[in-house]
Amino acid sequence: MQIIRTAHEMRAITRQIAAQTIGFVPTMGALHEGHLSLVRTAKEKCDTVIVSIFVNPTQFSPNEDFTRYPRTFDQDCELLKRANADFVFAPATEEMYPSGATTYVTVEGLSDRLDGKSRPGHFRGVTTIVSKLFHIVQPNIAFFGQKDAAQVAVIRKMVRDLNFPVEIVACPIVREKDGLAMSSRNVYLTPDERKSALALSRSLQKIETLFKNGNRNIEELISAGKQTLAEDSGVKLDYFSIVNPDTLEDIQNIDHPALVAVAAYVGKTRLIDNIVL
Ligand code: PAJ
Repeated sequence: MQIIRTAHEMRAITRQIAAQTIGFVPTMGALHEGHLSLVRTAKEKCDTVIVSIFVNPTQFSPNEDFTRYPRTFDQDCELLKRANADFVFAPATEEMYPSGATTYVTVEGLSDRLDGKSRPGHFRGVTTIVSKLFHIVQPNIAFFGQKDAAQVAVIRKMVRDLNFPVEIVACPIVREKDGLAMSSRNVYLTPDERKSALALSRSLQKIETLFKNGNRNIEELISAGKQTLAEDSGVKLDYFSIVNPDTLEDIQNIDHPALVAVAAYVGKTRLIDNIVL
């Protein structure tokens, strides 16, 4: 604690505090290197970094894994301490959703594409909780992972549409050594499923190779990706799409950056992955 005796010094300190940049990393916990990479990037760009841990019920539909979603709070706090996070905001469900709350934030259009199509209501839950967290935390910059590329597009649109004074930074996907995109849900996988899960990153690599060799035919690229997935009988396709990364709409030509996104079930676990061409 500091004791200030002069008006000049007090004013300088107030100015300094007001000018500080607050970085925010919203998470649902069960933290891994993917989450921690966001915290580290936030630490590089901001004076103070706040991480939220909240398993948000409204983004899960009744048949999804809300109740069994991994909760590893003590371990998460240890990892966050080591990554030099300054504050952890870990509210109870009642704190975020007072009983009788009936107000939601919905980004129309975008919320019904990709994961929003497969998981109706999912993005409404995400945009509602992220708005609430933004109001409480009041960050200058918020950090999201490119792993959830559709989520990034939906959040960017929400921030623009609702004039949130928050800059959105998307950080690269962190992968295991063998290519599997890190995810809190990977702990659900049995050893056999863990092997099958590699089909997602493999199918994206296949598309990237074809693209680098000059193939610009969207249908051929998607079909090559689907074929690679189908080679593993443990994987059930949800969607394979090449879309505009901002609107999430299908594209006909790859003349701008294109988002190649895949979602598939490995056993009961739904996994997603993507690359940008
Ligand atoms: P969660 O799945 O915990 O992810 C928190 C953040 O970590 C997201 O921005 C996500 O994209 C990022 N992330 C996850 N795996 C990553 C990886 N392998 N590489 C890079 N970043 C990764 O996304 C959510 O929580 C929730 O929807 C939330 C935004 C917190 C709202 O409830």
